[in-house]
Amino acid sequence: MADLMEKVVSLAKRRGYVFPGSEIYGGLNGTWDFGPAGVLLKENIKSEWVSHLSARGDIVFLDSSVLYNSRVWEASGHVESFVDELVECEICHRRFRSDMAPEKDSDHTHKFLPPRTFNTMFKTDVGPVEDKGDRVYLRPETAQGIFINFGNVLSSTRVRVPFGIAQIGKGFRNEITTGNFLFRVREFEMLELEFFVKPGEDKKWHEFWQKERLQWFTDLGIKPENIKLVELPKEDIAHYSRGTAEIWYHWPFIDWGELEGVANRGDYDLKQHSKYSGRDLSYTEPDTGDKYFPYVIEPSVGVGRAALAFLLDAYAEEGGRVILKLHPKLAPYKVAVFPLVANKPDLVTKAKEIYSELRLKLRLSAVFDDRGNIGKRYYSQDEIGTPWCITVDYQTLEDGTVTVRDRDTASQERINVSQLDTYFTQKLT
Ligand code: GAP
Repeated sequence: MADLMEKVVSLAKRRGYVFPGSEIYGGLNGTWDFGPAGVLLKENIKSEWVSHLSARGDIVFLDSSVLYNSRVWEASGHVESFVDELVECEICHRRFRSDMAPEKDSDHTHKFLPPRTFNTMFKTDVGPVEDKGDRVYLRPETAQGIFINFGNVLSSTRVRVPFGIAQIGKGFRNEITTGNFLFRVREFEMLELEFFVKPGEDKKWHEFWQKERLQWFTDLGIKPENIKLVELPKEDIAHYSRGTAEIWYHWPFIDWGELEGVANRGDYDLKQHSKYSGRDLSYTEPDTGDKYFPYVIEPSVGVGRAALAFLLDAYAEEGGRVILKLHPKLAPYKVAVFPLVANKPDLVTKAKEIYSELRLKLRLSAVFDDRGNIGKRYYSQDEIGTPWCITVDYQTLEDGTVTVRDRDTASQERINVSQLDTYFTQKLT
């Protein structure tokens, strides 16, 4: 199983999904750079999330800044509570999260000093003078940007409880222990939804969102046997939560573990910000005049962690081929176009024409390849996860048909070029 992770990390680098951060300078722990295919995979994950939420009609979107007034983090409780317990070894001075500290290193048994707490928010200063600048934090979650704009969204749109505000943005955490590729990093993009409901209806909505989010993953191809919902025990939940369920994935490196959190944050955040800012962030029911602080249900997932689950789940080896069986909606490139041979100008011209049409008319993410032989081109597209390959051959010049090869079955069918738009539109909706 651990071997699967190595294979996926290596494929990710080889095929332009993910590169180690700052690689030519020896790297920077806990950072990864998304390459050409990785960017498209991430964009597809984000756009599936956005379109799924916006189709509901009760969710609006926000894009708040990364830096907030540091009072935000005092109010939210993060200055006090966003801490990990760390232990330092007296001998090698390495620090570990207490729950992840190994007993030994290669050459010695660790001798740990008493545990200390460590706030995992990155700190920096605004203004040109470092020591006189105001302390700010790089946000460890995007959620607070939503809470502090709750009043602005209410007054500028026609939303009514129950409704949600969703946001995509970077979060930063100075994790003591990073690792397992994209699983635990120091800088990551988050997909966060804060769904505001009437107190008393929170349990119902909490259950609703757990199921909804689980379904989203399986609809996008995660095998049902690799994903499940787990209710966290009270002692494991965050300081703001009244109850948290997690969507767990069957990771090859830790067995089962968190992919996405679905928390019931109650009215904690809106109340705290009302208290600290002096602005009333309560909600008044337009029909009844009832005034209350809505409860918040929060599904929250890292894009990179989700991408890792999709990549691991899609990896397959069949009959000597490596296939990345990504759901077509997530695949970076939907179709590859090949001339059967590269040295026949008629075939190349026709293939380039089809390639342009797919891009320009259908707006499909397509690639063109005329290197090596057809078998090698199929092999490389299978590894990248491209669901369909079109080959332009001699018959194309006679009857206007091409072969379309399916990534997962390797079966081929002949389709008329004029039918390609209907063919792909049907496949991708
Ligand atoms: N606003 C809620 C919140 O921040 P969280 O469980 O701490 O909750 C939400 O984080 C999600 O963000 C996690 O389920 C995971 O998908 C992702 N995540 C958290 N820390 C991460 C890290 N260090 N590296 C990658 N993804 C991370």
